[in-house]
Amino acid sequence: MESRMSSLRQIAFYGKGGIGKSTTSQNTLAALAEMGHRILIVGCDPKADSTRLILHAKAQDTILSLAAAAG
Ligand SMILES: Nc1ncnc2c1ncn2[C@@H]1O[C@H](COP(=O)(O)OP(=O)(O)O)[C@@H](O)[C@H]1O
Ligand SMILES: [Mg+2]
Repeated sequence: MESRMSSLRQIAFYGKGGIGKSTTSQNTLAALAEMGHRILIVGCDPKADSTRLILHAKAQDTILSLAAAAG
């Protein structure tokens, strides 16, 4: 566990809307996954672009929709 945690890398894609964050991040992460890296994607956009891109538009519940249903 110790050695795994020490090899953990975090990459943030940020900036104003429409500059290519979702497109660049999903293609970069898909390539890293194909190279055998284990990937966790955390997307913060209510439009769920990251999820939509990486899952080929497969419908998903969002954190916001789950929170609204629980509230
Ligand atoms: N390298 C690129 N070259 C041309 N168009 C791009 C490129 N990267 C993204 N786009 C296009 O730009 C638009 C915004 O990209 P998107 O990844 O959704 O941006 P963001 O997540 O920063 O809002 C989309 O229509 C996308 O297809
Ligand atoms: Mg985006």
